[in-house]
Amino acid sequence: MYNSEIAAYAKYLPPRAVTNDDLSLMVETNDEWIRTRTGISTRHITTGETASDLCVKVAEELIEKSGISPLEIDMIIVATITPDFATPNTACLVQAAIGADNAFAFDVSAACSGFVYAMSVADKYIKCGTAKNILVFGSEVLSAITDWTDRSSCVLFGDGAGGVLVKASESCAGVIAEDIHSNGADGLKLTGNSLHIDTPFFDNDKEKQPYLWMDGRAIFTFATKKVPQSVDALLEKAGVSKDDVAYVVPHQANYRIVEAMAKRLDMPIEKFFMNIDKCGNTSSASIPIALAEMDEQGLLKKGDKVVLTGFGGGLTWGSLLIEI
Ligand code: UT7
Repeated sequence: MYNSEIAAYAKYLPPRAVTNDDLSLMVETNDEWIRTRTGISTRHITTGETASDLCVKVAEELIEKSGISPLEIDMIIVATITPDFATPNTACLVQAAIGADNAFAFDVSAACSGFVYAMSVADKYIKCGTAKNILVFGSEVLSAITDWTDRSSCVLFGDGAGGVLVKASESCAGVIAEDIHSNGADGLKLTGNSLHIDTPFFDNDKEKQPYLWMDGRAIFTFATKKVPQSVDALLEKAGVSKDDVAYVVPHQANYRIVEAMAKRLDMPIEKFFMNIDKCGNTSSASIPIALAEMDEQGLLKKGDKVVLTGFGGGLTWGSLLIEI
């Protein structure tokens, strides 16, 4: 049986950076509130690039870094809640753009846990021998479903994409363990872009709800409780101690959530990678963007054990332990 090794990392942030001061000209907010409540200073916003466009930039870098031919790619998974279309899926658009003619391709929808879910799927295809080279992305154009008149949400989100090449390996342990959950019963605490049924056969008297909305307090409490439990369960399954973990790469939603997580887990905050100040909350893209940045900074060392942990809409949450 093969293991799932991450063989390359890449990210792409759209060039247009929007600062807290820029937003304070649009809604009643200020740099101090946003920084102290969330840790965000800047986010990147697309000027027309879609989720598949962002992935293609990431894919091109992954191909260049790894030297793989697009024809050797067996499978493409895109985690996203902001696909270009309902169909074709985002992954098929990426497949066509990079000429990965031998791949099969589909999207995964699990909001801010999307990349963890997609990696879990990729790992199974590697372990059962169906695929040897898989591109896994998290890509979001959250700006398209943000209510830019709502100060409680518009300051939080950003656009961007990150991705990895997952390869079948006999030498690297790769994905060692996972702990993944959903709680649909609380799903309506974080919603976005609902399907609006208004047809010749049904006159809908409800307003269309195109935007992201969340009960921020409830999600904060959920995240700070469930994520540490998930990381504990993950490490117990793997028989790995917290001291043996080099880094935790959490979904970048709010630095206060990450601080609370570190405290509950009794792990030093220095082990938690954060780049929310520069990117905002990019949902499914935040973990692969963080991984690519860590790779650029030389933080990911061969043999290191790293925890990836996502949480958000669904509600969904989940953690993976990987060996670099
Ligand atoms: O990625 C998916 C998962 N999402 C998350 O994990 C997000 C989890 N939630 C959070 O991170 C936090 O709940 C938020 C950052 C969304 C909000 O922080 P908070 O400390 O929970 O603030 P709040 O919503 O309780 O609002 C506190 C005050 C309110 O004013 P009053 O009622 O106390 O007078 C808000 O109206 O802050 C006000 N406020 C703002 N003020 C200035 C809300 N947004 C803003 C703003 N600028 N942008």
